[in-house]
Amino acid sequence: MTKPQVLVMSPIWPSVLQDLERHFVVYRLDLAEDKADFLNRLGGNCRAAIISGHYTFGEEELQRLPQLEILACNTAGFEMIDDSVLRQNGIPFTNASLALSDEVADTAVMLTLAARKELVKADAYVRSGEWGAQGPYPLLSSLKGKRAGILGLGIIGQEIANRLQALKLDIGYCTRRRKDNAYRYFPDAVSLANWSDILIVAVPGGAETEGMIDKSVLSELGTQGTLINIARGSVVDEEALISCLTSGALGSAGLDVFLNEPDPDPRLTELRNVVLYPHHASGTNETRCAMSQLALNNLIAHFSGASLISPVFELDQRNRTIS
Ligand code: 8YV
Repeated sequence: MTKPQVLVMSPIWPSVLQDLERHFVVYRLDLAEDKADFLNRLGGNCRAAIISGHYTFGEEELQRLPQLEILACNTAGFEMIDDSVLRQNGIPFTNASLALSDEVADTAVMLTLAARKELVKADAYVRSGEWGAQGPYPLLSSLKGKRAGILGLGIIGQEIANRLQALKLDIGYCTRRRKDNAYRYFPDAVSLANWSDILIVAVPGGAETEGMIDKSVLSELGTQGTLINIARGSVVDEEALISCLTSGALGSAGLDVFLNEPDPDPRLTELRNVVLYPHHASGTNETRCAMSQLALNNLIAHFSGASLISPVFELDQRNRTIS
């Protein structure tokens, strides 16, 4: 039986590419100089495609791939991909949240501890000789018993909750629909922020969540509060964040993502009550490999008639969206 043709639209992990070539005929659009010509010549044969959520995919791309049966994304976020076009055309779509949830949750905990324990400032206090000159570092506030509010309790948000519960924090959350769990539910970001000592942003990026964390939310989090963002820079009104951190209306922040990557606003990067990380929450060999492997495993499942491992939405037998 001839192997299905798969289009690689953006870089994937090298060992996974080798595995992909064992199962499929692989077309490397990511290496093509003239991508339009490449798609004109070969796009019509492709029954599947792998893409990063940082690359654009919509109606125009779909028209170049008339035989497309499935699109597998090897990142968690996919705000550059118009998933509504896939839903409307009954094309299964998968992402990689399942493969990076532990790694990103670890990073959220790292940023929380680093911000609340003032790791960067205390490290400088030792290195600079201030410790010898000025004596003990100022006392801080314990993490144990504090309130962690998680905005977005998906696969990643749930793993963050699991970790923070182990650190003996109280967990609150805000999602579109209340979930069956022991955590305290809040209907909106403002009420969650009012309750929280630490507010952790774990919602998807895109138009629906743009600017969701605004001045009203940050003010409710307050002068002793901490904002942690491992989602997307677009979810936070960055002007409001800079203003609140600078004035002290917000106590501190730990940020993995920014509006302008890889050159964040210097008014943010110069602040000493912020811990900064270069959008690297999933940045380990194991996790980046696992993300590409999950995309491949979804393709293998599709072509073997098995259930998809990480579908973004469910389709019925007639390929109509269920969820
Ligand atoms: C990285 C991410 O951006 O998966 C995502 O949505 O934001 C991160 O994992 C990506 O994996 C590589 O750039």
